Amino acid sequence: MTHTLFIGCGNMGSAMVAGWLMAGEDPANFTAVRPSGTPVAGIRTVRTIGEANMMPERIVLGFKPQQLAALAPEVARWVTSRTTVISMLAGADTATLSGLFPRARAIVRVMPNLPVAVRRGVLPLYTIAHEDQALQSELQPWFSMLGFAPWCASEEEFGAIGFVAGSTPAYVARFIAAFAAAGEGRGLDQGLALTAAREAVLGSAWLAAATGEPMEELARRVTSPNGTTEAGLKVLDPELGDLIDRTLAAATRRSAELAAEIKG
Ligand SMILES: NC(=O)c1ccc[n+]([C@@H]2O[C@H](COP(=O)([O-])OP(=O)(O)OC[C@H]3O[C@@H](n4cnc5c(N)ncnc54)[C@H](OP(=O)(O)O)[C@@H]3O)[C@@H](O)[C@H]2O)c1
Repeated sequence: MTHTLFIGCGNMGSAMVAGWLMAGEDPANFTAVRPSGTPVAGIRTVRTIGEANMMPERIVLGFKPQQLAALAPEVARWVTSRTTVISMLAGADTATLSGLFPRARAIVRVMPNLPVAVRRGVLPLYTIAHEDQALQSELQPWFSMLGFAPWCASEEEFGAIGFVAGSTPAYVARFIAAFAAAGEGRGLDQGLALTAAREAVLGSAWLAAATGEPMEELARRVTSPNGTTEAGLKVLDPELGDLIDRTLAAATRRSAELAAEIKG
């Protein structure tokens, strides 16, 4: 049995645990450390690493990136040459992590997004232990239980996928809410408007994934010449690309600031 210890298991850690349990993983293989003692549904939760009292094969860092320097010495006491340290901390690069956990078997970065909770996440993976095929073969099926889990060739690629996918649930939530509000503005009941908007977005993404067709083609199939969708796209198209670009640029700037904070 391979045991995984989450050190910090809030929003994202709990989402990952939910996905693994949904996939049929044994709850006995997980322990979570939460200073508040707030239980993580389905698994053993303790308040301190000492209380967990184990040398697990996998340690997942699930606290805030700003806590890394303060918590690393205590975490490192539980890391042996058999431990894979898995970091989901935004902005903490592999060089920093390797310096803090020199005894680890390997350092693996993962940048999950929230749909891991329903096993439809995007979770890029990166390790400098590229040559360790055993490690990758061991971790790939485990992470794939949570969604699309590609190994990245560089930390830059890892960061870029994280940017495209990481905050997307928030952006899509805003998009759905805006459509729902527009429906309400046209007289629909609030619940009905929200359900219609949400299901339309889900169905569109599902269709795109099922057919694998280019986005241009999917849009074309909905757009009759001189029809209603074409009229709508004439408003949306000139704004959308630039808007997304500026949105991701702002997130990138903030990420660089956070990375600088972590390095002190
Ligand atoms: N949220 C996202 O979409 C997302 C996406 C990708 C990566 N991440 C990364 O995931 C990490 C966690 O983010 P989150 O959104 O899950 O934050 P969160 O909900 O605030 O969770 C933080 C966790 O850290 C725990 N913690 C606080 N102090 C601790 C200590 N001294 N020792 C051990 N654990 C401690 C908290 O414990 P309590 O529960 O007891 O308060 C909580 O469980 C961050 O590093 C973030 O960069 C988040």
